[in-house]
Amino acid sequence: MKGVLICGGTGSRLKPLTEITNKSLLPVYDRPLIQFPLQTLLAAGIREIAVITGPEHMDQMTNFLGSGSRFGCPFGFRVQEKPEGIAQALGLAEEFVDGDSVCAILGDNVFFDDLSPIIKNFKEGAHVFLKEVSDPERFGVAGIKHTKNRNSEIVTRNSVHVLSLEEKPKHPKSNLAMTGCYLFDARCFEVIRHLKPSHRGELEITDTCRWFLEHDDLSATILVKDWIDAGTFESLFRAAEMVRSQRTAL
Ligand code: DAU
Repeated sequence: MKGVLICGGTGSRLKPLTEITNKSLLPVYDRPLIQFPLQTLLAAGIREIAVITGPEHMDQMTNFLGSGSRFGCPFGFRVQEKPEGIAQALGLAEEFVDGDSVCAILGDNVFFDDLSPIIKNFKEGAHVFLKEVSDPERFGVAGIKHTKNRNSEIVTRNSVHVLSLEEKPKHPKSNLAMTGCYLFDARCFEVIRHLKPSHRGELEITDTCRWFLEHDDLSATILVKDWIDAGTFESLFRAAEMVRSQRTAL
């Protein structure tokens, strides 16, 4: 399995900080945000990772990540000329992924669950990780049929049956947000090639996932521990607080 770290976009909700650098390079307590999703990939044993970012901050990104030797894995870098969607960014890694399966992760997502067992066991189709939130309209949202084992550390594969996936719905069908970690087999690239831009002019990752749902090939897990999309001042600050309290507790 290959990894793709998706770190383009404008970071408009974090201006003026993102006028200085890429959102994923902003500090979360003692390290840049990108190190958290990167660690999720590394913990799952992924050692070939493409990093996608916009042209504005590619120099800072390569300065920080370098060849990857510091992290024990070689990086491939791809430039997304314009922020035309997360799915478009993932599409840029098609050659890099080269027919393999892929774990795509957003550069602003911090996971406190251990996703590695599910990432390592992934074979085909698509898999999404869901998390209960109080403000689902900010996210992709999954409508589900039923859940089991909600209190286990990581709910087993197929224990949640997804019925619908919608991007930032006004009337969410549940409070289960789609987090920014997606597992796909190589068909995702063909799917992305046929996507149409959404009303906001972007190729949506949620539409990519929906293709697998409609082909009865999507599974999902509900996360138990905390998850943060650090794309706002509040959530970036909360991420720093949580990381700090975990570090100081050690
Ligand atoms: O964090 C989870 C959420 O991420 C999901 O629930 C949503 O379904 C998904 O669309 C996404 O929503 P956001 O509104 O948080 O996406 P944002 O625009 O903040 O972009 C997330 C990351 O993807 C960010 O690190 C920048 C990168 N990105 C975004 C766009 C639009 C790109 O690399 N290229 C892009 O064109």
